[in-house]
Amino acid sequence: MIEKNNNMFFNSKTVIVTGGAKGIGAACCRAFYKENARVVLLDTDPLGQQLVDELGENALFIRCDVSMETQVKQAIEQAVHSFGRLDILVNNAGIQRYSKVTETTEAEWDLVLNVNLKSAFLCSKHAIPQMQLQGQGVIVNVSSVQAFIAQKTVAPYVTSKTALLGLTRSIAVDYGPEIRCIAVCPGTIDTPMLRDAIQLSPDPEAVYQECVDMHLLKRIGTPEEVAALIVYVSGENGGFFTGQAIRIDGGLGITIAGSKQD
Ligand SMILES: NC(=O)c1ccc[n+]([C@@H]2O[C@H](COP(=O)([O-])OP(=O)(O)OC[C@H]3O[C@@H](n4cnc5c(N)ncnc54)[C@H](O)[C@@H]3O)[C@@H](O)[C@H]2O)c1
Repeated sequence: MIEKNNNMFFNSKTVIVTGGAKGIGAACCRAFYKENARVVLLDTDPLGQQLVDELGENALFIRCDVSMETQVKQAIEQAVHSFGRLDILVNNAGIQRYSKVTETTEAEWDLVLNVNLKSAFLCSKHAIPQMQLQGQGVIVNVSSVQAFIAQKTVAPYVTSKTALLGLTRSIAVDYGPEIRCIAVCPGTIDTPMLRDAIQLSPDPEAVYQECVDMHLLKRIGTPEEVAALIVYVSGENGGFFTGQAIRIDGGLGITIAGSKQD
């Protein structure tokens, strides 16, 4: 059972987190719950129920493929019906696939774009009217540092994460000042997505070390660090953030290769 803070701002709030069964999404569910919010976890993975059971009352798991509009519409209706309101939406669900443009099948392109980008559009589309009824709301899109710098062979992923910044701006411009929309762009974070990705290599330990070394802070980030940022920008003290992309990346990609200092 999570010990809760007596947070007066979040105690009247309902938060939906997509992809909340694992990784960054699970950390967001725990962090919002700890701040006294009601938490609705949307995921295709039934593991989401375990997390909700661990959290206790005022948490709800809805099995939902967030790339499908009928499922999203139903899930958001169920969330509002259960908790009476919807204040914060965290569009976090995402998948990673490896291919360059010439190697990417149409099906793979559609899959990555649908899960990583269309889902954020669909969830926002069905959440915004409820937020407008209440007079305010916050949407956080979990993008990636790959919206700014690109790894090799992840063309659909890089495209989806970059486009999320456009969606973020559009929502901020079209629905402000009542609704704020922010993109959070993590560097490498220690989650099942990362662990699965490095297992594809014949030498996972070497890839892990490479990930550590490419960050200026010489470590990988934790899901809790990203969740803390998401809670912050969603809350009272983050009330002046909108339309922006915020990198939380341990300084990844800001050094210039070839400079000699040591
Ligand atoms: N881990 C990293 O290094 C990293 C870095 C930058 C950005 N991100 C982004 O952060 C987000 C979370 O990543 P993570 O590392 O925690 O991933 P993860 O794979 O550990 O967790 C992702 C969750 O999303 C769920 N999901 C996948 N497709 C779904 C769908 N169609 N409908 C509903 N749920 C679905 C999965 O079941 C899983 O629970 C993703 O958008 C990812 O692109 C991750």
